Amino acid sequence: MQQTVRPAGRLLGSVALPGDKSISHRYGMIASLAEGVSKIQNYSTGADCHSTLGCVQSLGIEVEKEGTSVTIHGRGLRGWRSPSSDLDAGNSGSTIRMMAGLLAGQPFTSRVFGDESLSRRPMARVMKPLTQMGARFEAREDQFPPLTIHGGELHPIDYTLPVASAQVKTCVLFGGLFAEGQTIVREPVRSRDHTEIALREFGADLKVIQRVITLEGRPTLTGRELIVPSDLSSAAFFLVAGLLIPESHLIIRNVGLNPTRSALLDFLMGAGAPIKVLKIESVNGELIGDIEVKHAPVRGGVIEKDMAAALIDEIPVLAVLGAASEEGLVIRDAQELRIKETDRIATVADNFKRMGIEIEVTPDGMRIPGKQKFRAAAFDSFGDHRIAMAFAVAGLRGDGPSTIDNADAASVSFPEFWNILDQAAGSNA
Ligand code: S3P
Repeated sequence: MQQTVRPAGRLLGSVALPGDKSISHRYGMIASLAEGVSKIQNYSTGADCHSTLGCVQSLGIEVEKEGTSVTIHGRGLRGWRSPSSDLDAGNSGSTIRMMAGLLAGQPFTSRVFGDESLSRRPMARVMKPLTQMGARFEAREDQFPPLTIHGGELHPIDYTLPVASAQVKTCVLFGGLFAEGQTIVREPVRSRDHTEIALREFGADLKVIQRVITLEGRPTLTGRELIVPSDLSSAAFFLVAGLLIPESHLIIRNVGLNPTRSALLDFLMGAGAPIKVLKIESVNGELIGDIEVKHAPVRGGVIEKDMAAALIDEIPVLAVLGAASEEGLVIRDAQELRIKETDRIATVADNFKRMGIEIEVTPDGMRIPGKQKFRAAAFDSFGDHRIAMAFAVAGLRGDGPSTIDNADAASVSFPEFWNILDQAAGSNA
């Protein structure tokens, strides 16, 4: 699908976004291993989170969907059944990596595959700790999907993560659910902690002391009612669009504000963005609030070290903001960008060139001078949802209509993106 984006006059109104992708995956997976029924409201509409539901259904779990509400009939920690066919993770790195931990603890062999992009993403980072716990794997070239997982009796490990990755942390903790005794995960940098919060919500005994997480194995997880906050990483596109387009004023409702995710707000406010958090409450252990943004120039800055890990999903759209900022944006220590749905350093740079934006690419990041003029262009998402949406935002500021090829990639996390953008921009977009 090709999408046209016209320069926007201003973005106005109050927007409601789909449920958080990271939290939806975790609730979907854990609920399927809990005893009894879980009702999840505002479950992500993104294709990725539906890949997770498809996998748990293939493992014999009944799932009912009604709008954005999902009901999961969990059958306990030992309730999955050997699947009769391979499990399809689609485009979803979270599905394959987190499910690997759960499948490693099963008394059967399973095989998980994905689309072309997922088939190029490295899995050794989850195979290594799970092998130490007692599982066995086969993978294409020993590291790429399809992944065959020979599950079995797991034993607990004390594992120091070599990379800051919430997916790998989750995978080890999920393996630890099936191991008798304490599984310990040590993080180099604090990554998103939705797994820790969700496991506790479902009744697991889990302790966090600074960057060390200790999980007691073989808990009884109990089904429950949950509400998923709206996705801050999806809100990022509207926050940046609001900042970029003169006279914009947006309120984004019920957004997840978990402190391990909200570095985006810290970065933007630190760069002078007039962003306000209007109300905060705690729902199922996760913070939720409304965010207000108004148009204003921002300074730009440097994203590096721990900040690079904390902002990894938002970097494509922050790069777009950086090109319009007063002082430009430097991104370092973000080599993980190269192994996302696309090599996001390369795909950002490619689209920047199409619109005449200057960028210097480095092995672990990019340097983007500020105050650049945005020209209309023919963009390509290269099949990557965050690239599609980041360059839609760039197109709003263009000097004429822009097009985005493979724009349907946005559905991976945010199928409503084009409609909501259209509404916020009135008849302009
Ligand atoms: C995610 C963790 C991050 C992030 C991804 C979702 C999660 O990946 O980029 O979009 O839900 O745990 P890594 O764990 O590879 O950093």
